Amino acid sequence: MSIIKIEDIAFVRFAAPDLDEMRSFLTQFGLDCFDGQGDRLYAKGRDGAPFVHSTEHGDPAFRGLGLRAQSVQDLQLLAAAEGVAVKDFAAPGGGKVVRLTDPDGVSVEVVAGQTFDAPQPLAEDIPRNSAAGRPRQRAAVRLAGGPAHVIRLGHCVLNVSDFQMSERWYKQCFGFITSDEIEARPGTAMGAFMRCDRGDLPTDHHTLFLAQLPSGKGFSHAAFEVASFDDLMLGHNHLKSAKRAPAWGVGRHILGSQIFDYWKDPWGHELEHWTDGDLFSAADGSNKATVQDLLAVQWGPPHPMFAGKFAPSPNVVGFIMMLSVRIKRLFRRSPQGATA
Ligand SMILES: [Fe+2]
Repeated sequence: MSIIKIEDIAFVRFAAPDLDEMRSFLTQFGLDCFDGQGDRLYAKGRDGAPFVHSTEHGDPAFRGLGLRAQSVQDLQLLAAAEGVAVKDFAAPGGGKVVRLTDPDGVSVEVVAGQTFDAPQPLAEDIPRNSAAGRPRQRAAVRLAGGPAHVIRLGHCVLNVSDFQMSERWYKQCFGFITSDEIEARPGTAMGAFMRCDRGDLPTDHHTLFLAQLPSGKGFSHAAFEVASFDDLMLGHNHLKSAKRAPAWGVGRHILGSQIFDYWKDPWGHELEHWTDGDLFSAADGSNKATVQDLLAVQWGPPHPMFAGKFAPSPNVVGFIMMLSVRIKRLFRRSPQGATA
């Protein structure tokens, strides 16, 4: 039984040495930027959330993530369980916050009671004709170029030093449910896609993905939902014409099924556009999957790890990941020989 059940991810925080350059990139990425108090840049999507991305002035760094609790009462429960205080949240939207630190030292701010704006209206979704059905008749498709329309923050991916330890902490605190657990080899879990427990309400296949990789802990990427597939492609063209740095895409993932498009901000932090992801309720349970499932695509370019001439096979990658996880567990054994 978890302490609380969070309802969604709220924001990601970064530091960067040039806020104007960050503003330029985020605007081209499709976020709506605005200045906050102090030397801080905020950006929001179109769902009415007060902000989804925050940058403070400083050396380039990932500074943590925000999760949204269902109520201020839940924050009080969480604060009491963790021995910390509920504080006023001095950020756009206000509300209350509980500040925690995950097992790898990542700042996790849990917020509630924020003031939301009304969602911005979306362009009408154009009916798509296919061989199975032709609902669009006597009407042409005409799309306006420009940045994608980011709706909301959908998930964050963290590389962790010890998957089991981090998974336990996030599940115990926030009630995450595993959608797909990734096994480097049968019996050796190295990561999991985890969704919020919203009961019967279907929710994103993953709000958080934790992965234990040989490369060590750190931020992997944050992913933002855009209006539609056309919108994602228009955004791709816009970022490409602005000569921003692509990271991976466009393609369709296997786990979660999203159409994805990854880009790097000016300091190398990856942000993803996605659309058309899977939604599951609490009753939909959990699955096990392989490294191949994690890194392969249903269509689109291969993961950058597999793109080179001397790229390793997914089997080799899985074997290296398995070794890395098992060696880590070996060194984590207590003097009595029991694993932590
Ligand atoms: Fe992602």
